[in-house]
Amino acid sequence: MHIEMKRARQVSPLQRREFLQRSAVAAAVFGLPMAKAEQYFGAGESGPAMPRHELLDSDPERYWAELRRQWLLAADRVNLNCGSVGCSPLPVLRAMIDHILSAESYREAPYPWFGYEENTRLRELRDQLSAFIGCQRDELAIVRNATEANNVVCNGLDMKPGEEALLSDQEHPGGKCCWEQKAARFGIKLNYVALPKPPATKEEIVERFAKALTPKTRIIVFSHITTVTGVILPVKEISALARQRGVLTHVDGAHAIGQIPLNLHDLGCDFYASSPHKWLMAPKGTGFLYVREELCDKLWVNIASGEWRNYEQKAYRFSNFGTSNLSVMVGLKAALDFVQQIGAERIYARGHQLATRVRDQVAKYPDRMKTVNASKDEFFGTLVSFEPVPAVAPGATSGGLLPIARESAARNIRVAGGAERIRIATHIFTQPTELLAFFDAMDAGVRSSG
Ligand SMILES: Cc1ncc(COP(=O)(O)O)c(C=O)c1O
Repeated sequence: MHIEMKRARQVSPLQRREFLQRSAVAAAVFGLPMAKAEQYFGAGESGPAMPRHELLDSDPERYWAELRRQWLLAADRVNLNCGSVGCSPLPVLRAMIDHILSAESYREAPYPWFGYEENTRLRELRDQLSAFIGCQRDELAIVRNATEANNVVCNGLDMKPGEEALLSDQEHPGGKCCWEQKAARFGIKLNYVALPKPPATKEEIVERFAKALTPKTRIIVFSHITTVTGVILPVKEISALARQRGVLTHVDGAHAIGQIPLNLHDLGCDFYASSPHKWLMAPKGTGFLYVREELCDKLWVNIASGEWRNYEQKAYRFSNFGTSNLSVMVGLKAALDFVQQIGAERIYARGHQLATRVRDQVAKYPDRMKTVNASKDEFFGTLVSFEPVPAVAPGATSGGLLPIARESAARNIRVAGGAERIRIATHIFTQPTELLAFFDAMDAGVRSSG
């Protein structure tokens, strides 16, 4: 019996040959990523072995170089824009694919899926996620992205005509447009705070919010890390200010989870939205919404189904939007496992170290460009944004930094931005040689513009 089992687990030469043939076909038809995934998944593994943690002390560069094998990332492409959408490592893909296959072969519980009441998988995910971000499980709704979470708060909050919301001037459309619609529909007023570019001190930022508050302000809406410049805003201080004035705070934290360590209770905001498919490297279409416990029954749901007024569900009420994709949420849990295996602090430290190199490189061209967030360590995590000197008009489609964006594109280096601004995202899969390739593109862009 024992021998039989052992034999069953061994891959026969024939199977191996078949597998290798299939991989070769897959490589030819679908390209190398498919073959690489097959190589591991076919052998019953989630990916290459993780590098030993001790390497982090003895030879950190080797650790990060070895870790890179966890991704399918093509060797001839450089992704310096995981701020828009992240790259999932093989164990995350494996978890998601396994779930799809298991569900489609009817090995999963028939019901509930995702979008109705909570099942065991979702409960485990919420337990782990809430512990990771410093809140209670009941304060956490699983949704599909930060845009959805932002909409739940905005559309769910009763406001009277004439009441006001205060936003920063760097909000993403997925965070601000719900407020624009609410203003157009219900006559609420929107005020804006112009953020300093770059900021000098936290106090300077808080002061600007304080000055813009009026007796009619109901809520302050701002990003933890803005999409425009990647600046980290002082959430704790702005939330404390708002609390003193009896004003609510909604934080769009799309960029935060996985980029910087988080503790929502310590931050003290009322609502917090995020997209783990960016920096946490979760599958695309994963999001969460935090609602401070005492506010869970103060919001209407955006999408009403059977549980719309089941207030006992606390924040989970906002996850009842009809059948959705449980497989990506299984992948989200695997992404949490992956990140926790390495450590959120270590991930931040590595990304920040690489981002600092970008900041220092930009500083070499003081009469051509300037960073707009990285004035101090506390204002940037692993995103660095820079603008041309002199500035170009908002929305410009020529001049400014466009030659750098073009040089980057020509070398298959993906960056965010164009003439007006460029934003570089570094992560644990970013290799120092990839940054050097970008620095070459920067240099060529500068030289070509005379
Ligand atoms: C601050 C901010 N909020 C919201 C979004 C929208 O994210 P999603 O498309 O995941 O909803 C983004 C995307 O970049 C963002 O930067």
